[in-house]
Amino acid sequence: MIVVFGSTNLDQVGTVSRLPKPGETVAGGTFSMAPGGKGANQALAARRAGAEVLHVSAVGDDAFADMALALLDKGGVDLSEMRKAQAATGIAMIFVDAEGENVIAILPGANGTMSPDDAERTLGRLTAKDTMLVQQEIPQAATRRALEMARARGARSVLNTAPFLDDTPDLAPLADIVVANETEFALLSGRPIDELEAAMDAWVAETGRTIVVTLGPDGARAASPQGKFAVPAHKVTPVDTVGAGDTFCGYLAASLDGGMTLEQAMRRAAVAGSLACLNPGAQPAIPMAKDVDALV
Ligand code: RIB
Ligand code: NA
Repeated sequence: MIVVFGSTNLDQVGTVSRLPKPGETVAGGTFSMAPGGKGANQALAARRAGAEVLHVSAVGDDAFADMALALLDKGGVDLSEMRKAQAATGIAMIFVDAEGENVIAILPGANGTMSPDDAERTLGRLTAKDTMLVQQEIPQAATRRALEMARARGARSVLNTAPFLDDTPDLAPLADIVVANETEFALLSGRPIDELEAAMDAWVAETGRTIVVTLGPDGARAASPQGKFAVPAHKVTPVDTVGAGDTFCGYLAASLDGGMTLEQAMRRAAVAGSLACLNPGAQPAIPMAKDVDALV
């Protein structure tokens, strides 16, 4: 089973011809709302990849909560550990321009109430057969406790370093597999992007664990105690890249949980991440396993 311990948002998306600069007004475009949040997106991606998925998270006491959970519910993600907080449902305000470029502001609401107690209450069930997936849209004390509990129970843990936070370098060694994009890994390793290879080698030497770096249209690379490899992306013309990284993480975790090797899982995850760029929105764009597997 996959347990995702993390955020849930309702995404408010404005599609505009170009992104406004600070102080500027850009008129025109269209508005839509769709379920999002890195935790919830990764949970749905793992589910669409074929895994049994429990999403441990919090939503608010408002009209947005049901909208935020609609696709998880429809997709068969286990929501029995969803907590209702006395706060607003997490909101992401997103603008996407004609080239698919985006800017995002996150208003955490209920996600900000996630705490080590949530981990204590829900993660005692983890076993060595499970995979836990965490991101960084909830307080780091909660994520830390979740990672500690997964390790104590022998469950595989995957940390996605998005969005990068001050304490991320402190937390990352607690995860079996860290998934970062190039920018995040440069911050994590303290080395510039052009030293990527050497920095990945150093990560494995220092932690004895696995680092996966996603490279957008160039696929992904991994370094682990078992070796190093690179996998390609599937070539697409992106419409909206929001949720592509989450799709990669969910597919990666589900594929590993299903018994694939890291390299096989990354190949599948990279294709899934590419396909997620073909449609607007985060969760609505997460591809189904049959469409991904036809291209791997
Ligand atoms: O990674 C994409 C997600 O980031 C969006 O769904 C939005 O909620 C933001 O948190
Ligand atoms: Na998308």
